[in-house]
Amino acid sequence: MAITIKSEEHIEKMRVAGQILKRLDEILRREIKPGITTAHLDKIAEEYIRSQGAEPSFKGYSGYPASICTSVNDEVVHGIPSNRKLKEGDIISIDMGSYIGGFHGDCARTYGVGEISENDQKLIEVTKQSFFEGIKFAKAGCHLHEIGAAIQKYVEENGFGVVRDYVGHGIGRHMHEDPAIPNYRQIGRGPKLLKGMVLAIEPMVTAGTYDVKVLDDGWTAVTLDGKNAAHYENTVVITDGEPMILTL
Ligand code: MF3
Ligand code: CO
Repeated sequence: MAITIKSEEHIEKMRVAGQILKRLDEILRREIKPGITTAHLDKIAEEYIRSQGAEPSFKGYSGYPASICTSVNDEVVHGIPSNRKLKEGDIISIDMGSYIGGFHGDCARTYGVGEISENDQKLIEVTKQSFFEGIKFAKAGCHLHEIGAAIQKYVEENGFGVVRDYVGHGIGRHMHEDPAIPNYRQIGRGPKLLKGMVLAIEPMVTAGTYDVKVLDDGWTAVTLDGKNAAHYENTVVITDGEPMILTL
């Protein structure tokens, strides 16, 4: 499938999807405290997304059973909300998607629960900043590989690892469109970025080695070494100038 170019009108629709997630993030962030369950976050998310006239993109996607992903501590991505209670010192990555007007938005954030360790704080900050290092190259005329190369350089300089088994993606009428967007260096330059491409850029960063495995539930990806991981994602529009972030 070719990389789709979105018109202004498409981008306005995607902004609506993205801004629902921005507001949902503000709501969920306030709920995160010791004692609450990840299922509680999922319920709030589903209700809020539907209250906005949108649908949760993830629900039913390849059989995924919930509206958001809640990945705690060594869980990297695709953690399934459950009756697990968050406790002081945990870190939680929340990944959310909304579908409205024929288009999707996708974003993820990692938060600490109460007081967290200095290293986890650094992990969360480096993951977020790596996204901003990457999008310095999210401009018309750059090549796709520059984004992942910048993310990897920043993450590794800070002593952390970049997950290889999961990558970012184009987004639009489908949640996952071409191109795949690795958060690490590639051999070729990759496609040239053009105005109107919309990309979900999402570094997944580990405190130890970057190897992951999927648990028996078929979804939850955890680090092989059991160390913590963080995730940060936005839906980004390529323009001739600075990228536009639809989920901030
Ligand atoms: N944001 C994730 C992604 O881009 C979430 C997908 S979860 C799923 O792949 F359940 F929908 F698969
Ligand atoms: Co995504």
